[in-house]
Amino acid sequence: MDGMPPVDVPTTTPSTGVAPAVEPSAGTAPSLEPSSGAPTPSVEPSSVAPTPSASASSGAAPTLPPRAAVPLRKPAPRGPISAALLAALSRSPGDVDLGPLRVAVAARLADPADLRTDEDVQLALLCLYELHYRGIAGVDDDWEWDPDLLAARAELEVPFEAELRRTVPVPGCDRRDRTGVAERLFAMAAADAGPSLSRFVARKATEPQLRELLVHRSIYQLKEADPHTWAIPRLAGGPKAALVEIQADEYGDGDPHRMHAELFALAMRAFGLDDAYGAYVDHVPAATLASLNAMSLLGLHRRSRGAIVGHLAAFEMTSSLPNRLYGNGVRRLGHDEVAATWYFDEHVAADAVHEQIAGRDLAGALAEQEPELVDDILFGAACCLALDGAAAARMLQAWDAGRTSLLRPLP
Ligand SMILES: [Fe+2]
Ligand SMILES: [Fe+2]
Repeated sequence: MDGMPPVDVPTTTPSTGVAPAVEPSAGTAPSLEPSSGAPTPSVEPSSVAPTPSASASSGAAPTLPPRAAVPLRKPAPRGPISAALLAALSRSPGDVDLGPLRVAVAARLADPADLRTDEDVQLALLCLYELHYRGIAGVDDDWEWDPDLLAARAELEVPFEAELRRTVPVPGCDRRDRTGVAERLFAMAAADAGPSLSRFVARKATEPQLRELLVHRSIYQLKEADPHTWAIPRLAGGPKAALVEIQADEYGDGDPHRMHAELFALAMRAFGLDDAYGAYVDHVPAATLASLNAMSLLGLHRRSRGAIVGHLAAFEMTSSLPNRLYGNGVRRLGHDEVAATWYFDEHVAADAVHEQIAGRDLAGALAEQEPELVDDILFGAACCLALDGAAAARMLQAWDAGRTSLLRPLP
């Protein structure tokens, strides 16, 4: 809790995110056919998530003071690759020989062991990708587009992606039209055989375990939606509009207090955790970092736009019910205050809508626009399910063995 500003309690509830009706300036708006694909099916409006006053929680809607985009705190190295990388990043581009970094990467890649669970590799990837988000404290912004560092990043991410493509099972898809692809994605999410972390949390998790879960999730949730936003300028027409509709909700529909990342920060504070961006990177294992790194990998490469769309679809399709169960667990532990439950309640409603938009209007419509992306859409969805499942399994195994799931205990 050190250094965290206080929570303000306003006298009004947050906005519903419903924009006022605006008349066209003159005449009737012309109707253009989409560039390809079927007309948009009817879906419920996306701004249906309940305000805290409509939820089962008690108390007024809390908000956090507006915050600036502070960079990631520089993490501690976990091996020769991240040590060489962080040492280089502490100096200016052009002043540094990246040879030691590339030697360390080459030595690691000579070993065929799994990269997804390699602490050193995943931390290095996280730092390299973070240069494209908010940066790292004390690191020169010019590193973001330094060609030698980008080459070094490729030496890590190419084998990381190759490992994912080699090991993550991806089902086939007979019907490659909009409805067929959407139904395949829903079927993949429904068949996900990963361990049910959310059921465990609803029924059994202790308060320390719930705090650990929030710490794991904070690595992504405090930048929630950002990796998928990279896809917006790479799409057009219906899929672009659908992605923007989802992302607008994720970013609070114009209200910074309703941004999902901010709601997650509220929940962290309710459990006495530090909600600073990336505060717990040093605590979380490679399996958790790999989930975010896969999103960054797929989001940052235009050629992977199908995969990041598929990833988002699977993410949304596996969110609504689990968040209901997480919320139940939070309340079971006596945290029925809005600050603790709002994030979870918001996602029960919002993601029941988002999964329809993501499956049909985004992924399905993209499959019709660019049929050659169908396999990648399914690959991205499979990556989401596999990596999030692996991170959850690791958590549950640690708790089952009576251990912390983190690399170091929480203060
Ligand atoms: Fe969200
Ligand atoms: Fe969502």
